[in-house]
Amino acid sequence: MVRVTVLGAAGGIGQPLSLLLKTSPLVSQLNLYDIRNVHGVAADISHVNTDSKVLAFQGNEELGAALAGAQLVVLTAGVPRKPGMSRDDLFSINAGIVQVLVTAFASHSPDACLLIITNPVNSTVPIAVETLKRLGKLRPNRVMGVTSLDVMRAQSFLKAALGPESNSISTVENSVTVVGGHSGPTIVPLMKNKDHQRRLRANNKYDDYIHRVQFGGDEVVKAKAGAGSATLSMASAGFCFSELVLRSIRREPIKPYPAFVYLGGLEGGAAAGAAIAAAASVGEAPDYFAVPVVLRDGEISSLDTTDFKNIDNAEGGLLKTAV
Ligand code: APR
Repeated sequence: MVRVTVLGAAGGIGQPLSLLLKTSPLVSQLNLYDIRNVHGVAADISHVNTDSKVLAFQGNEELGAALAGAQLVVLTAGVPRKPGMSRDDLFSINAGIVQVLVTAFASHSPDACLLIITNPVNSTVPIAVETLKRLGKLRPNRVMGVTSLDVMRAQSFLKAALGPESNSISTVENSVTVVGGHSGPTIVPLMKNKDHQRRLRANNKYDDYIHRVQFGGDEVVKAKAGAGSATLSMASAGFCFSELVLRSIRREPIKPYPAFVYLGGLEGGAAAGAAIAAAASVGEAPDYFAVPVVLRDGEISSLDTTDFKNIDNAEGGLLKTAV
C-alpha cells in the first residue's frame, strides 16, 4: 500500500486526479497539497468510501510534511494555458513553481517516483532533472513527464478516424503509441498497425489524424474559451499512468508505456537516443524524449525502442521535429 502526494491538488487537474486516486485500492494515504483551497477538497474527497486516508496540507510551511514518506509524487501545480498561449508561453511562470516544489521534493521525498504533469512538460522535466542534479538527489529512473494524454488522444482519435467498424477492432489500443515531446509538432504518434495506417491514408485522413493528435489540446483550450486547458481528460490520463507506477510497485508486470524521460541519465538511454536519431535520420541523439518505458518497483527498469525500428519514412519525418 502506497502513500501518494499530489502537488497542486486544488487545481482543475489536481481535484479530479485526487478523486480518482482516492478510488484506487492501491493507495493507502493521499496527501493533498496546494497553496489554496485544499482543505475543502480533502474534506470532500475523504467522504468517498474507500480505505485510504486523505490529508490536507496548505502553504509552504506544510510542504515538507506533505511530501514526507511519499512513494509517488504527482506534480500538477502551475498555471494552465489560456487561448493564444503556447505551452512554451507557460514556461516562465511554471518553471519557478516546479523549481520550488522539486527542491522540497529533494529534501523530503528524494526516493519517491516523481510524475510531472505541469506544462510545458518538454521544459519542466528538464528543470526538475537539473534541479535534482544540482542538489545531488537525481534518480533519473524515477523522474517522468506524463504524456499519457497524448496516448489516450491518439487512441480515441484513431477510433473516430477509422469510423464505426473500428469498434469491432479490439486492437486499437495496441495500434498506436506516442513518442517525442508533449507539445504540438514534437508529439509523434507511431502507428504500429500498418493496416490502420493504410486505411487512413487511403481515405486521405492520415495527415488530419496526425495533426489532431498533435494539436488536440488546442480543441479543449478553444472550447473552454479562456477557462483553461484540459483538466478532466488530463486527470484521467494522469491517473492511468499513476496506476501503472502503483502496480509496478506491487511487482505486477507492466507493458511498456510512454513517458517523457531524461535519456542522458538512464541506463540504455544513450542507445535509445541513438536508435531515435537513426530512425529520425538526424545526427544528434536527444537528451529528453517520450519513449515507452518498462516500469518495475516504481521506477524505469528499461526503455523499449522496438517501435522506432518499425516506423516508415513518413513517420521518420515526423520524428525529426521531435529530436
Ligand atoms: N505550490 C502548490 N500549488 C500551486 C503553486 C505552488 N507554488 N502554484 C500554483 N499552485 C496550484 C494552484 O493553486 C492551483 O490549485 O496549482 C493549481 C493549478 O490548478 P489550475 O490553475 O486549475 O491549473 P490546471 O488546469 O490544473 O493545470 C495545472 O498542469 O497540464 C498542466 O498546463 C497545465 O501547467 C498546468 C498544470
